Amino acid sequence: MHRFCIAPMMEWTDRHCRYFHRGLTRHARLYTEMVTADAVLRGDRARLLGFSPDENPVALQLGGSAPAKLAEAAAIGEAFGYDEINLNIGCPSDKVQEGRFGACLMAEPDLVARCVAAMRARVQIPVTVKCRIGIDDQDAEADLARFIERVAAAGCSIFIVHARKAWLKGLSPKENREVPPLDYARVARLKASRPDLTIIVNGGIETLDDAARHLEHVDGVMLGRAAYQDPYILAEVDQRFYGSQAPVVSRQGALERLIPYAERHIQAGGRLNNVTRHVLGLYHGRPRARLFRRYLSENAVREGATTDVLREAIRIAEGEGVACTRAEPQADAAE
Ligand SMILES: Cc1cc2nc3c(=O)[nH]c(=O)nc-3n(C[C@H](O)[C@H](O)[C@H](O)COP(=O)(O)O)c2cc1C
Repeated sequence: MHRFCIAPMMEWTDRHCRYFHRGLTRHARLYTEMVTADAVLRGDRARLLGFSPDENPVALQLGGSAPAKLAEAAAIGEAFGYDEINLNIGCPSDKVQEGRFGACLMAEPDLVARCVAAMRARVQIPVTVKCRIGIDDQDAEADLARFIERVAAAGCSIFIVHARKAWLKGLSPKENREVPPLDYARVARLKASRPDLTIIVNGGIETLDDAARHLEHVDGVMLGRAAYQDPYILAEVDQRFYGSQAPVVSRQGALERLIPYAERHIQAGGRLNNVTRHVLGLYHGRPRARLFRRYLSENAVREGATTDVLREAIRIAEGEGVACTRAEPQADAAE
């Protein structure tokens, strides 16, 4: 079920991004951006939680630390059709710490256990936790073991572990995705010591070969930035990790699937760019990557842009467009 997951990413894994990713892999488990329990309880639910049924299996990631609010938000998420509720115990940002949730909760395993128990009591779908191997000067061995122990005892059997510590002071969340160093061995030891739990490793996994190596030690992998920035790596996930015999979808096929979807979105008052901004990396490393990216990013933002812009971008990327009659730059690995 969790063999291959695409990470929750604020501003990135919105419903349009997930719909696009679903066209590349039928089976990978998708995650929403983090939504706080307060936002679910007080905000515009259709806008925050609405998604296309084609996206399943998809998990709703919640942020919060008040058991009753999280339980209510989880129940609302389940009613919307999500397949899993995931609690964010990994985000180090200051804003999140002020709200007393995210990574700082690694220091409060009893509170996290109460949150999990409260949510479990309200929903049938799995309640899972995404955490780090520790925070600040916590001991990545003993403190992580204790955290997992308590939270598992409250009924969470699926943990996604970002294999680096969170530093709660002095680093931006962006910096804290690069340092301190990753410790995959710690996550593998966690799996070895708790074979009854489903352990998914996250952090710095860039290719499906990397993913396959991790799967020798843990139950699942979660990819964030690599999946977003080079989404075509997702095209072989079903064949490699889920035993699918289906043909691998082409880049063009993945984009053509978006045309009717984007048309519906525009008719409902949305903008083409809301959908197409997520596909800019699709030709990453291919000869026309830069032309595709430039054409689409410049034109899809224009007022009134229609799906003709997407059709033209496909023609350009596939080498049929007017813009491609001159000599093209070679594949640019830096794209
Ligand atoms: C733009 C961006 C937004 C993120 N937002 C979230 C989030 O909402 N919730 C969360 O648990 N992690 C968030 N993360 C962290 C990722 O889920 C993941 O743990 C991290 O990027 C490490 O995985 P990677 O090296 O495969 O990217 C975010 C990461 C990025 C790059």
